[in-house]
Amino acid sequence: MGELLHKIERERRTQGNVIFYLATPPTLYAEVLQRLGAAGLSHTRCSLSPPSQAPPRTAIPVGGPLLRPPPTTPRTESEGVWPRIVIEKPFGRDLQSAQALNHVVHQAFQEEQVYRIDHYLGKETVQNILVFRLANGIFEPLWNRNYIDHVQITAAETLGIENRGAYYEQAGALRDMVQNHLLQLLALVAMEPPVTFEAEAVRDEKQKVWQAMHPMSAEEVSQCTVRGQYGAGEGGGKPTKGYRSEDKVSPNSSTETYVAMKFFIDNWRWADVPFYVRSGKRLAKRVTEIVIQFKRVPHMFFQHSACNRVEPNLLMLNIQPDEGISLTFGAKVPGQAICINPVQMEFRYSQSFGAQAAEPYERLLLDCLRGDQTLYARHDGVEAAWALTTPLLEAWQNSPPPSFPNYPAGSWGPAEADTWIAQDGHHWHQ
Ligand code: BG6
Repeated sequence: MGELLHKIERERRTQGNVIFYLATPPTLYAEVLQRLGAAGLSHTRCSLSPPSQAPPRTAIPVGGPLLRPPPTTPRTESEGVWPRIVIEKPFGRDLQSAQALNHVVHQAFQEEQVYRIDHYLGKETVQNILVFRLANGIFEPLWNRNYIDHVQITAAETLGIENRGAYYEQAGALRDMVQNHLLQLLALVAMEPPVTFEAEAVRDEKQKVWQAMHPMSAEEVSQCTVRGQYGAGEGGGKPTKGYRSEDKVSPNSSTETYVAMKFFIDNWRWADVPFYVRSGKRLAKRVTEIVIQFKRVPHMFFQHSACNRVEPNLLMLNIQPDEGISLTFGAKVPGQAICINPVQMEFRYSQSFGAQAAEPYERLLLDCLRGDQTLYARHDGVEAAWALTTPLLEAWQNSPPPSFPNYPAGSWGPAEADTWIAQDGHHWHQ
């Protein structure tokens, strides 16, 4: 491979710049990384136009310098020359395996060369979370425990597992969606403003959020989580089979296709504010959204009457599919009596901007070409997310679910998830 890369470099004048993209089964990641390192391909050593301190090009033997051991001072990103590596999820399957994988990665590559991809971070609406919070003066003063009652983060899918039974049996909803995508969304909602909008500063602030969330004990797992698995039901007006009847799925599978959980962030901004996170396959509707529920007014001035529907203010960040933001507030219904009903102010991407946004992967891969890691996961972030999710996996493994399947395809998940959140005096917004 080194010879091929060198040939391309000479022909296309790529100056030693290479992106390796690991889209292999995760079981091969470690070996591929080790071999790239052993072959010297993770170091930058050859270029058609070397920087002044580097040996002149004539000093590099023609015919495969990339295959030789690295020189004493490999050239770096800061010198504008780079091999980079993009790694797909899943990045490990628990804390221990993620740490081991990071170790292997770092034996071959510097962290500044590593791009752990999470396609949620490439979505326009996800990038807009920070813009919404930090480019507008009116929301940030309210963005804390004094005004926010709780937060709900939902990623609901109507699809089942499609043809991915073998993968999903090993993964489940927690590993597939929560450890990565949903904890990233949570961090963007909860983080402090970074000092600059640069990769390290942004990722430092996200890291602090995960560090402020304590891993659950086994008892907390039983109190703060609900899991589910879909049975036969309906999807798109047609009958659909249950998870256990899907291809390459065990008929006794205890893999969860639905999870709901409650996290707390133990810091000054968020102490005691629950963050409810849920995700499931074969649910009633495809929707990913973040709902910020504000506290009620301290004293209700208007008398209760049959016509009043006074709801707390809700700010909904619609990540997909109907991308936009809406704010719900109470308004007086026209007429003699004081009757209050919730109404909405809406922003829709399609109406305001029209143009179709770039696909998340387009955006992210372009960032990788440009050397911008802001929208990529850093090693410590991946480990922090696993530190939060691994105790759930362990507790669940020790107490297999008695009632699977516990929700019909096409529903909003297990009824237990509704009674569970109702114990806190809340209900799911859907
Ligand atoms: C992937 C999961 O990471 O995200 C899939 O492996 C899931 O199971 C998908 O369906 C959801 O992505 P999106 O962009 O459709 O919300």
